[in-house]
Amino acid sequence: MTEGFIRAEHLTLAVLENDPYPAFAALQEHEPVAYVPSLDMWLVTRWDDVVFVCEHPELFRSNTEPSWLRDCLGENMLTLDGAPHDRLADGMRPPFVSSSALPVVREGLPALYDELIDHFAADAAGGAEIELMTAYAEPLANLSLAAALGWTVDWRDLADWNRGVCTGIANFENDPERAAIAAVANAGLAGALDAALERGELQSYVERGFTRDEIVNNIRLMVSGGINEPRDGVAAVMWVLLTMPGLMQSVRDEPALLRKVIEETFRWMSPVGTATRQAVADTELAGVRIPAGSLVAGCLSAANRDPRRWTRPDEFSLQRREGAHLAFATGEHRCLGEWLGRQQVRLAVERLLHRFPSIRLTRPVEVRGFEFRGPLALHVRLD
Ligand code: HEM
Repeated sequence: MTEGFIRAEHLTLAVLENDPYPAFAALQEHEPVAYVPSLDMWLVTRWDDVVFVCEHPELFRSNTEPSWLRDCLGENMLTLDGAPHDRLADGMRPPFVSSSALPVVREGLPALYDELIDHFAADAAGGAEIELMTAYAEPLANLSLAAALGWTVDWRDLADWNRGVCTGIANFENDPERAAIAAVANAGLAGALDAALERGELQSYVERGFTRDEIVNNIRLMVSGGINEPRDGVAAVMWVLLTMPGLMQSVRDEPALLRKVIEETFRWMSPVGTATRQAVADTELAGVRIPAGSLVAGCLSAANRDPRRWTRPDEFSLQRREGAHLAFATGEHRCLGEWLGRQQVRLAVERLLHRFPSIRLTRPVEVRGFEFRGPLALHVRLD
């Protein structure tokens, strides 16, 4: 029984951003399908129901009305359902799966990551404190997306556009200042992609018959959804390794354990909080009637700690034999960059541990976020 729990009607975004897990536990027990007035949205928190929402686009569609994502990026695979979605997702996936991305992952990415490490290694050897999010996780996430796409672009520009586009996607109140920031980022991105197409880059997408707008809008989606998550994933796994007693040593002794650490971290602290859809018609879920047109958030991070699915869900444990988590969602919008994302996190951590045998945290780590969750900063010493 969750004592003194906050009811959905009093739940706020601030509470969820600070730490959503106690609220999720209470919702799962008392109000598994709950309307939250402060978000004007229904939160679905139990594993089976979240899977149901993700896997029934005929009842819960991605093509929502209104759609901040579509307003900001233009129509893209995550604002479409069914065949129009599948055409885009199937054709845009090849650069991110092992059959074509293996050379980039084997040679390209480790070299890029080592180069980033070289930039701060000298300072680190002199005893300086290094902040790993800005020095490592953020640049590597930007560089990896560009490398996978075969797109020659300065990662700092990409990082600026990523921030601008994300500002636009979260512009729920239609703030003109935020809209202006997003417009600058969108124009910068489109200009850089036009130049790349003129140079003959991104040809695999052209050859598959995608129009210029389809390429631009979907790469905008990748820039907004394929950079922060691996960045936060790298930071989360490093945080876990640096704080869970004995874990770092176990991984050094048995490097193959790292894959398990990554999967358990994604379950235990999922970088993406929700898959948000719209009820197509009045729909009943877990005995609760959701009116047509309602926004419905399938809470992936809640499902990943549902006690109906996981034993002692709040515990980080490498002993689990309970199957897959939902950090990359399920159904037709399941993450396009899932394979590459996992490789980025694994390689990033491997390179860092290899170079710095005595890496240690120097300050407490603050973790934040509901929709996107991860450490805010990771200060370490590496000498
Ligand atoms: C490594 C950490 C990552 C996590 C945890 C993650 C998580 C997710 C989740 C939960 C979704 C589903 C969203 C929804 O259904 O509303 C998604 C979709 C998507 N992700 Fe990722 N992602 C990651 C990395 C990446 C990367 C590296 C890319 C690079 C391209 C990427 C591109 C996309 C795209 C394009 C979609 C939309 C797919 C569709 O609509 O069919 N993601 N991701």
